Amino acid sequence: MDATRLKGKNVLITGAARGMGATNAQHFAELGANVCLGDLDLDAAQAQADEINAKGNGRAVAVKMDVTKREDNASAVAATVDAFGMINVGLFNAGLNKPRFFMDIDEDNWDMIMNVNTKAMWLGMQETARQMIAQGKQDYPYKLINVGSIASRKPLVDVTVYCTSKYGCLALTHCGAIGLAEHGITVNGYAPGVVVTPLWEQLDKDLVDIGFKDREGQAYEDIVRDALQIKRVSYPDDVKGTAAFLCSSDSDYMTGQMIHIDGGWCIQ
Ligand SMILES: NC(=O)c1ccc[n+]([C@@H]2O[C@H](COP(=O)([O-])OP(=O)(O)OC[C@H]3O[C@@H](n4cnc5c(N)ncnc54)[C@H](O)[C@@H]3O)[C@@H](O)[C@H]2O)c1
Repeated sequence: MDATRLKGKNVLITGAARGMGATNAQHFAELGANVCLGDLDLDAAQAQADEINAKGNGRAVAVKMDVTKREDNASAVAATVDAFGMINVGLFNAGLNKPRFFMDIDEDNWDMIMNVNTKAMWLGMQETARQMIAQGKQDYPYKLINVGSIASRKPLVDVTVYCTSKYGCLALTHCGAIGLAEHGITVNGYAPGVVVTPLWEQLDKDLVDIGFKDREGQAYEDIVRDALQIKRVSYPDDVKGTAAFLCSSDSDYMTGQMIHIDGGWCIQ
């Protein structure tokens, strides 16, 4: 591990209290980044930040934020700048899922998923870019990193709204890359497949509840057997290297890309 690879990167990560967001925060700090962990769950985000600070490489602060609120995105950016002097990278990771068959989707399901996964990404990108523009252009690009999904590319009938929201993340990545280039800001993303996190553990139960699967664990087995080239599910550690690459200067000449880390699902 290169403990200085991300030195000088001050990063806001949304949804960083657990799951992939927390793993990325820990990993980025191990590589020298300073991280601001934003989440609805402040206690859990603070516990992650305390662990990072105890290790003594990159520094960490935690902020309570609801990503669907513009003012919370603005204050999380401000907290990053207050703690570390400036912001270099925004990683828009907060997200959720609640499966419904097409004819069972209602406005509550639609609004909840679209607000957190897509609208909030736009708000976070905009508020972070606003600060980056105010800081002025650097010799290296500022970076916005969007978390997509296999559902950014595959129509999955049991999670139509989630797919809609994650196709939206892909569009925000493409349009943001074009719209923000003149300010020295790149926009890229990564798209996991099945990652064992609290989100997927809940999804596994919900898929049984809506009658899409007969028993818990079946969704994992079916996907590994039928859709993946690499015959196992993944874990946040499988994703953190790509996230760190997109955060690092190794990706400075990339923009508008969504990298799939999905065991080969997207080519099926
Ligand atoms: N787990 C997977 O298989 C998988 C696959 C593809 C994409 N993703 C995406 O990866 C990202 C992270 O997923 P995960 O599996 O680590 O999820 P997770 O549920 O483990 O963690 C998500 C975090 O986001 C926070 N959050 C949710 N709503 C929020 C809000 N309104 N404001 C602030 N924070 C909020 C939660 O408190 C939680 O800490 C999400 O965007 C998800 O859609 C996950």
